[in-house]
Amino acid sequence: MAARTTQRQTRRVDLSTFHRVPLGTWPTPLDTCPRLSAALGATVLVKRDDLGGVGLGGNKLRKLEFTLAAALAAGADTIITFGGVQTNHGRLTAAACARLGLRCELVLTRSVPRSGFAYDRSGNVALDRLFGARLHLCDTDDEARYTAGALASATSVTLPVGGSSGLGVLGYVAAAQELREQLGDQRVDRIVCAAGSGGTVAGLALGGETPVTAVSVSPGSQEKIERTAGLAAEEVGVDQPKLDHVTVDESAIGEGYGVPTDEVWAALRLFARTEGIVLDPVYTGKAAAALVAGVRPGETVVFMHTGGVPAVYGYAPELVVEAGR
Ligand SMILES: Cc1ncc(COP(=O)(O)O)c(C=O)c1O
Repeated sequence: MAARTTQRQTRRVDLSTFHRVPLGTWPTPLDTCPRLSAALGATVLVKRDDLGGVGLGGNKLRKLEFTLAAALAAGADTIITFGGVQTNHGRLTAAACARLGLRCELVLTRSVPRSGFAYDRSGNVALDRLFGARLHLCDTDDEARYTAGALASATSVTLPVGGSSGLGVLGYVAAAQELREQLGDQRVDRIVCAAGSGGTVAGLALGGETPVTAVSVSPGSQEKIERTAGLAAEEVGVDQPKLDHVTVDESAIGEGYGVPTDEVWAALRLFARTEGIVLDPVYTGKAAAALVAGVRPGETVVFMHTGGVPAVYGYAPELVVEAGR
């Protein structure tokens, strides 16, 4: 851990002082998207964190580079973590554990009103099994906590939901630094990014000064972003950061976590048909729906594609209908 300083933000913190294992292919591309931009009347750049690296890629890899390195350094042989049935964090933890020779226990909770063969068996669930993780399906958060407690041992490390520990957030402090280098002198009005457990937005906000629109996929984002930013600040030894440049947008939540709206499916069609980019119906689809609804004429936006594409197959029955519209 770095020494405590009076620095307000972590922007200048040297992340090389932390343990880190390579899991992704950095830098991820920053796509100029002329047809999407024309359709929205703005300049939209897509940061492709869905591409490259272990386990089909996605935002959780950046967090796992720090959290799993710390677990290895502590002598762990098993990682326990949580998520919904179609968790991307779980899939990428399973893949990264396979790469690093760690056992992976995924404690999954039925937190989305979906079931059936596609949702329960395909998409991320099938990949979790392929990567050799053990799956523990629970009906409630209490059952999940009890199950994880029973699995814990002296050589296990438990990662929080979404991988959003203080160390995990540092992955997106690094991403903000990477993005700044890619942009060079190009001016950007804001970054649009989905917010679940909050760590991705917290890292982007801590690592850069560009305004961030945090598009909530479930209620309570403001508190989650502040809490995870605080954990990261603690990790690097700086004061609780000010997050004045983060705006939380709850307009795309719809009926709740994991329930796509018509606007989400429309956003999936738009990105696919203008740029050949696949979004997911739980996170990036909601972030894109909020972008489409709130884009200002002529602005320049970086849209963070945080991954999640395998979850599309969990929604196959709806997707085949929606894709044909
Ligand atoms: C594809 C995808 N995008 C965005 C997020 C949100 O990231 P965070 O939990 O750091 O807010 C997640 C979280 O699981 C995700 O899987």
